Amino acid sequence: MKRAIKIFGLGLAVLISIGILALIIINTQDLPSYEVEPISFERSDSEQAIERGKKLTQMLCANCHMNQSTRKLTGQRMKDAPAEFGEIYSPNITQDKTYGIGNWTDGEIVYLLRTGIKRDGQYAPPYMAKLPLMADEDIDAIISFLRSDNPMVTADPTPDTPTKPSLLTKVLSRLAFKPFPMPDQKIPMPDTANVLELGEYLAHNLECFSCHSADFKTNNYLDPPQSVGYFAGGNQPLNRDGKVMPTANLTPHETGIGNVTKGDFIKAVRFGIKDGDALAYPMMPYTQLTDYEVGTIYDYLQTIPAIENEVQRAIYD
Ligand code: HEC
Ligand code: HEC
Repeated sequence: MKRAIKIFGLGLAVLISIGILALIIINTQDLPSYEVEPISFERSDSEQAIERGKKLTQMLCANCHMNQSTRKLTGQRMKDAPAEFGEIYSPNITQDKTYGIGNWTDGEIVYLLRTGIKRDGQYAPPYMAKLPLMADEDIDAIISFLRSDNPMVTADPTPDTPTKPSLLTKVLSRLAFKPFPMPDQKIPMPDTANVLELGEYLAHNLECFSCHSADFKTNNYLDPPQSVGYFAGGNQPLNRDGKVMPTANLTPHETGIGNVTKGDFIKAVRFGIKDGDALAYPMMPYTQLTDYEVGTIYDYLQTIPAIENEVQRAIYD
């Protein structure tokens, strides 16, 4: 008996040592790398694409990459990234050839936005957004805008501050987070005259579902309705002071938007106003969207399963 315990104890000690050794090794290494598939992508550079790309970039990228002192996408410290992830800085994505992405090919940018793999093969953890479901035409719009002469994106030589991912980020990037597959077919634009189709597209691609479901960790980015608590709120993104801002339930239940009119919903989403009160960061006013577009999101949300979940708003002074 004693001997069995000794052997068991020895086995356990060996296992723990191997575990600690593995963590030490992972901590000395970079984030995992993957092969980069060469993608050829011809951007349109059409005026219409640049205009749409500007709106999409303001809604989906500027929040993280905009630097308030340069007024350009030169990157910043991400104060709202959970501290457990490490010290995270978004990089310069202006056209500067040394400090920005002026030397990236369009295909390399597309590959990163689709899969999360950077051109050097390194994986960009979930604190960098990915667009696995976006229509090719919208991806073209974003790239055409990034290459345009808009002052937000023209070359600026602000150097990047290197991100220091934590051990947790490194471990999760090996075990839990995985790159998304590169779509093997073109993804078409939704039919804008089809209210539910457009509403679903916007609800998924503008990342509404990502913040408004139960938890970033249990979201299904390739098939959003499979996310735990799809649109029932309660997820806990942080504000710029690092404080938790629970997200609202947007399902058609009465604890969600069951009693909210379309007009009030549009006011909340486009202008960040609810019952005369301002909605707080990270809920940003989507002034780039039209009443019609926000209305389609509302109509789509009426068709998803109603989930009871009373979420208390967090009000800080
Ligand atoms: C939630 C914050 C966030 C959002 C939203 C976001 N990014 Fe990023 N982005 C980052 C961070 C942080 C990195 C650095 C990741 C790393 O190196 O591991 C990054 C990296 C990049 C890179 C690689 C640049 C380099 O020099 O390595 C490009 C290109 C990029 N982002 C473009 C975009 C575009 C285009 C959008 C909008 C569609 C976008 N990002 C949205 C945070 C964000
Ligand atoms: C970065 C996370 C995030 C994203 C992305 C986001 N929201 Fe929000 N949203 C929030 C948070 C947090 C609140 C609560 C804000 C508050 O209490 O002041 C909120 C509140 C709301 C409200 C008010 C609900 C109510 O009745 O109290 C509506 C409506 C809403 N969001 C709709 C949307 C739509 C539509 C989208 C996509 C176009 C979206 N949100 C994208 C985080 C987000």
